[in-house]
Amino acid sequence: MSDQVKRFIRVDHAGEYGAARIYAGQLAVLGRGAFGPQLEHMKAQEQVHLDAFNEMIVQRRVRPTALLPFWHIAGFALGAVTAALGPKAAMACTVAVEETIDAHYAAQREALGPDEAALSQTIEAFRLEEVEHRDIGLANGAEQAPGYRLLTGIVRVGCRAAIRLSETV
Ligand SMILES: [Fe+2]
Ligand SMILES: [Fe+2]
Repeated sequence: MSDQVKRFIRVDHAGEYGAARIYAGQLAVLGRGAFGPQLEHMKAQEQVHLDAFNEMIVQRRVRPTALLPFWHIAGFALGAVTAALGPKAAMACTVAVEETIDAHYAAQREALGPDEAALSQTIEAFRLEEVEHRDIGLANGAEQAPGYRLLTGIVRVGCRAAIRLSETV
């Protein structure tokens, strides 16, 4: 397995770990409200994604990122803080995160060769669910969140930095 594929699995594992923590943070604040079921739905899908990469990390002997303890806290904090700003801000966070992951997975698929067809298919299946999450955010008022552009801009920059760090660290 190439170093590139190892990096892909490491960063995807970190990303799905962080995503599950973001929704956990949002659920801690908004879980009892009207958005509870949708947040639960997205968190359940992130857990499936995370389980798949957890398995790959073990089977393919990829070292996970050393930053997992940090993503544990930072992911939850991002979810809880945006949720505390209101449900629309939480949905805006979802749009920014999921758009970033959509592009990230699409780029990985472009780079993967035919020898990694199974991984490529898994990534595509997950990418479609990330797009579904983005659409849930858009359908639930994300763009009406106060400071939508600023908020999504900050979250996007943060996600891209997290991706870069988790590939190698
Ligand atoms: Fe995911
Ligand atoms: Fe997602």
